[in-house]
Amino acid sequence: MQVGFIGFGEVASTLSQGLMENGVDVYTCIVGRGKRTNELAKKTKVKLYNSYKELAECSDILISSVIPSNAVNVAEMVGKYSNGIYVDMNNISPNTVRKTLAMIENGKTVDAAIIGSVLKNGINVKVIASGAFADTFAKLGNYGMNITVVGPENGQASGIKLLRSNYTKGVSALLFESIYHAYKLGIDKEVLNYISETEGQNFIDSAVSRIISTAFNAERRSEEMVEVIEMLSLKQNPVMSKATLKFFNNLNKNIKLNKRPVNYGEIFKIISED
Ligand SMILES: NC(=O)c1ccc[n+]([C@@H]2O[C@H](COP(=O)([O-])OP(=O)(O)OC[C@H]3O[C@@H](n4cnc5c(N)ncnc54)[C@H](OP(=O)(O)O)[C@@H]3O)[C@@H](O)[C@H]2O)c1
Repeated sequence: MQVGFIGFGEVASTLSQGLMENGVDVYTCIVGRGKRTNELAKKTKVKLYNSYKELAECSDILISSVIPSNAVNVAEMVGKYSNGIYVDMNNISPNTVRKTLAMIENGKTVDAAIIGSVLKNGINVKVIASGAFADTFAKLGNYGMNITVVGPENGQASGIKLLRSNYTKGVSALLFESIYHAYKLGIDKEVLNYISETEGQNFIDSAVSRIISTAFNAERRSEEMVEVIEMLSLKQNPVMSKATLKFFNNLNKNIKLNKRPVNYGEIFKIISED
């Protein structure tokens, strides 16, 4: 079994490491790529092809893990050479997934989405997949990956990822706003305690971590919300989701953090000073 990666950053290098440890032949191509990609390829000891054409022709499973804005371009680049199954693993909306996978001439395509952090979970990170060839892709579960097939259509896996992300970001925005105002009144611990009576024992730890991540990743989250709004606006006016986007845009304007704070007090102080 030969697996190829287009793009060799955090996702590809982490998954490659695990697949190789489980006996899979893993290849990539780093022609024209940056310093970090070259270093990751060297460190992982992944095998290299000298062209994307060769990589696409020889891979039984070819995984695209580039950056969201290049998902369509790379699929177009290898579309007529891909012989095996082409898997898009980028964070893109169902519409963009369908546009991307339409570039693959043999039609053997999979829509895949990573749920969680690759850095934290390694090869065991949860991956959901949909599309006519998702079952074949899921066989990489025999080589250490953690893949669940969620449906037969392209767009379903990325739809789940985006809607889950819409929900968690909306809840985080509301939590941040509530605890910020509680903090200003000196009752943040009490409010968290009272909410935990309905939300369960682990609520306080996860709420604190969420508030910190909300501020630390505000820029990335506002970009992801743009994709969500684009998806939801096709059918209706997504009022709550638009409010979440506005919240993250405002937060991003008001706070820039170079490192992750250890407690939310640091964040709330910065905002109060503005
Ligand atoms: N990291 C996560 O935990 C995570 C979780 C969920 C989803 N994702 C998604 O997975 C994808 C990959 O994420 P990542 O964290 O691995 O990103 P990353 O570390 O930034 O790596 C991106 C890789 O793609 C390469 N690349 C960019 N444009 C390319 C092109 N046109 N042709 C070939 N290679 C190209 C980059 O090369 P250069 O070095 O030359 O820029 C780099 O090797 C993204 O779409 C992301 O949204 C990641």
